[in-house]
Amino acid sequence: MDKLVSLCKRRGYIFQSSEIYGGLNGCWDYGPLGVELLRNVREQWWRAMTYRDDIEGLDAAILMHSRVWEASGHVDNFTDPMVDCRECKARFRADQIEDALCGSPAYKGRKAAKCQAEGKFTEARKFNLMFKTFIGPVEDSGAVVYLRPETAQGIYVNFLNVMASSRQKLPFGIAQIGKAFRNEINTKNFLFRTREFEQMEMQFFVKPGTDEEWFGYWKAERMQWFSRLGMEPSRLRFHQHGDDELAHYAKAAFDIQYEFPFGWGEIEGIHNRTDYDLSRHQEFSGKSLQYFDEQTKERFIPYVIETSAGASRSLMAFLVDAYREEEAPTADGKTEMRVVLGLHPLLAPIKAAVFPLVNRDGMQEFARKIERTLRPHFTVFYDDSGAVGRRYRRQDEGGTPFCITVDSETLQNQTITVRDRDSMKQERIGADSVVRYLRERLDLSS
Ligand code: GAP
Repeated sequence: MDKLVSLCKRRGYIFQSSEIYGGLNGCWDYGPLGVELLRNVREQWWRAMTYRDDIEGLDAAILMHSRVWEASGHVDNFTDPMVDCRECKARFRADQIEDALCGSPAYKGRKAAKCQAEGKFTEARKFNLMFKTFIGPVEDSGAVVYLRPETAQGIYVNFLNVMASSRQKLPFGIAQIGKAFRNEINTKNFLFRTREFEQMEMQFFVKPGTDEEWFGYWKAERMQWFSRLGMEPSRLRFHQHGDDELAHYAKAAFDIQYEFPFGWGEIEGIHNRTDYDLSRHQEFSGKSLQYFDEQTKERFIPYVIETSAGASRSLMAFLVDAYREEEAPTADGKTEMRVVLGLHPLLAPIKAAVFPLVNRDGMQEFARKIERTLRPHFTVFYDDSGAVGRRYRRQDEGGTPFCITVDSETLQNQTITVRDRDSMKQERIGADSVVRYLRERLDLSS
């Protein structure tokens, strides 16, 4: 993880939020490559989930009526058990003390479990994870609003709006991507548990009785999405929630877990939320959220199968999965270690880099021409500084699938070399076919 975190900073993927002020815990910024990768993760999810006739898209506001969170159960139930250390005043999640370190600088590296065994901790008490703020100028209880801790509720409260405007019938889904906020007691493992993050959620509304079948369907679909985008299948698995793990709304839940360097961790949850959410919103809002089945003439509240992926957590899993170190031959016949981000071309932030081999004889001008030809079609990077071997390494580290080099032969016969990031093999092609060539090799159609 340390190597990946440092690569992310060096290459402009991820920076600590407010770094020049010492950083803000649990918040991260996406740099030039990170923001492209995040956009690509979102884009692939959006295509997979909404480019079909039974799912509609939505972008609901982050701030919602505070009754939403009473109805959803988050005001009462979205809590973690928290303990304080009387000695060092650090706070811990009571169920995660095993992994935690003591907060006192005087005891650097000491396990918090030891302090607990010595009786330094308070009794556990409930800590609500929602960030609270006020709407308007008056900070009283009537003005309280929350930053949403999940995007799902924006979908439930728009169930009728979307159904009526899109003329959908059951079964159908609503998908949305957006920020979510949780005031986690302890953040950890880079992007894994943060206070501000992004979710990609889809709620699929079905007739009660068909929910288990749809649950199976979405479990399989979502697992395939990760492997289709290049994630190593042996590092993916399902984890079924036991009764003690189920969220307050769920009848059944499976996590898709990825094997991170620090162990298996959830990247997406698939939940059977039954009619819990719509029933609660019907009760709290006084508006009927029933569905009328024209064929059977029945009225009922639909069940919901939810697929809930973390965009930022998935992004981190894609980065971990893509990271590799390997020996590579150098120009003088020796070998050196190269770091490669073997990201799937659909996810890679930059699709091609363009280099003049050396900065003379018009090679720069030719390379700039290639860059201009490619730019309307792909994200491209032009680089003419330093030895070409170093330029290749920089692109390998950033995850760029192809490097295009203009050399002296180019000037004679208008051909260029294209180097493949993974095999390091070079192919010579006509400069006029570069767009078509890259399009085929990048497989951007899938
Ligand atoms: N609507 C259901 C829901 O929010 P969840 O299991 O609490 O379910 C879904 O969260 C996904 O959101 C997780 O699988 C994870 O990818 C992401 N996620 C949750 N909390 C997170 C956090 N503190 N930091 C980063 N990602 C988080």
